Order: sequence, then structure tokens, then C-alpha cells
Amino acid sequence: MIDKIKLYIKIGLKMLKREVVNNHDYREEYNKIAQTYKNWVGVMGRFTDNIIKPEYLSSHKELRILDFACGTGYITKSLLKKEIPCKITAVDYSENMLQTWKDVQNSKVQVIHADGIEFLKNTDEKFDIIFFGWALSYFNHEELFKLFEKVLKDKGIVAVITNVKGTLLGIEELFLKVMSQSQEVVMKPMDIKFNLPKGKDGLIKWFEKYNFENLEICEDEVTFSFNTPEELLQWLNKTGAIAGTAKIFNDYSLVKHKIIKEIKKQKYKDGKYEINHKFAYGIFRKL
Ligand SMILES: C[S@@+](CC[C@H](N)C(=O)[O-])C[C@H]1O[C@@H](n2cnc3c(N)ncnc32)[C@H](O)[C@@H]1O
Repeated sequence: MIDKIKLYIKIGLKMLKREVVNNHDYREEYNKIAQTYKNWVGVMGRFTDNIIKPEYLSSHKELRILDFACGTGYITKSLLKKEIPCKITAVDYSENMLQTWKDVQNSKVQVIHADGIEFLKNTDEKFDIIFFGWALSYFNHEELFKLFEKVLKDKGIVAVITNVKGTLLGIEELFLKVMSQSQEVVMKPMDIKFNLPKGKDGLIKWFEKYNFENLEICEDEVTFSFNTPEELLQWLNKTGAIAGTAKIFNDYSLVKHKIIKEIKKQKYKDGKYEINHKFAYGIFRKL
């Protein structure tokens, strides 16, 4: 109990001083997992497909599309297959994620290596559609949605898929427990949970506040099972699902065994180790 109180005081002070896992840390983490991110896309890409809908892509004129926080380019590549008249701007700040698809050279696509917020602030371009896959949690949505509004044309569309509260059930508590046991190596906390909407209704509320109307919305959840706690942790690490957590500690190797021990205790079900991914996806139109 005393350990917990000490930890919360430490976290509180660090949050006040803004010594939290930051943009720079997430970028480094995505640089590390760029080669294994395909594991995520391989199984979750079919849900991303739900926001790449033909009815919003049919147009007589050339569509201006922004693939925001594009990563390894899953969305851009899917759009190219549709062979619609368009110009796509794909932005991400992880050079290694971008590096994975440098062979996709197409005159329709411009790839920009930049921080997303800086790009939105500085661009003069106006877009018909913004695609935004699996990255909402890394942004302050209030700042972001104002900027989305700024760069969209009238009646422009945001097509989004995002994790929501309740995803990776128990993982936050598990990390807090390990942090409490290993306070001497805790460097900075994460504040990512503030950036997850409360399900599909929460996502609608966030967008409506910034002058977007909801056209379509869905919520879903998938659970993955693993034979060992090590495999579960490896999944979380290689897919970016817990990107940033390694930066909490000044030496991750010192706590890894404790994390595995906690997974063993807390994520065991019917002979397997389970983890859930809960997410919402939808289409929003600027009013
Ligand atoms: C989970 S991946 C999603 C990639 C892609 N949108 C997809 O659907 O597969 C998250 C991406 O967000 C990017 N990202 C996070 N914060 C960012 C920022 N501030 N500016 C630009 N990119 C950012 C990361 O580099 C990473 O490539």
C-alpha cells in the first residue's frame, strides 16, 4: 500500500513537470518495431479495410487524400489498388516505418517525414478525405481535431479506426504493479489512456465537439491467445500495441521478467494467455 502511494506521488509529480513518455519516445519505439509491424497489419488490416469505403471515394474530380500517421502505408497501398483519380499525401514521423515502403513509387503519392501536428499546422493544402488508422492515442485529440477541421475542405471526411477504452484489459494495472515494485527504475509515466475514447459513443462525442457529424460508426473486439506469457508480451511489443511502455523504465531488461510474471498471473485463461483489442471505426463529415 505504501509502495503504491509512493508511486502515485512520483507519477503525479512527473506528470506536473510533463516528464511523461513523449512524441520523441513513441517515434523511437516505432522505429524499433518497423520490421515487425506487419504482424499487426496482417491480422487487423481487415478491420482497417472497413474505413476505406468506395462510396466516399467515388468522385469525378481528383480526390486530395491525407493518410495521417501512415506508418507502413497500409491505407495508402489499399487506396492505390482501387485505382481512383487521387493525390495522396502520407505523413508519419517514424523514418523506419516509412522506409519499409520506399519501393512503392507512384506519382499519386507524396510521402512526408514529419511530425503530424507540425505538418497540419504548416500545410496550405486542403483535403477531401483524411484517413487516420490506429494512431489517435498518440495525439491530443482536441488539438488534432481542430487542425483536421482546418485542413479539410467543406464537407470533408475523416475516416478513422482507433483503439478505445477497455482495450488491452488489465495491462495498465499490470504495468502499474511492476512500476510500484521497481520504483527505482521508473523514469517517466505514460498518459496515453487520456487519449482513448470511451467506445464508439465516446468517439462520436469527441468529433461532434469539433464540428463533425457522424455518418457511420462501429465497435468491435478481438481476443488473441498465446501458449506462453512470453509470446503474449512479444505480440504486444512487436505490433506496437504497447509502444512507449519500454520508455517508462530506464532499463527495460531489469523489469521484463516481472512483467512476464504478472502476465502469467493475470492473463491466464483455459490453458492460454489472452489479450483483447477493443476498437471503434467510423466516418465523420465536417459540418
Ligand atoms: C499503429 S501505427 C498506424 C500506422 C497506419 N496508420 C496503419 O493503419 O497501419 C501508428 C503510427 O503513428 C505514427 N505516429 C505517432 N505519433 C505521430 C506523430 N506525432 N506524427 C506523425 N506520426 C505519428 C507512428 O510513427 C506510427 O507509424
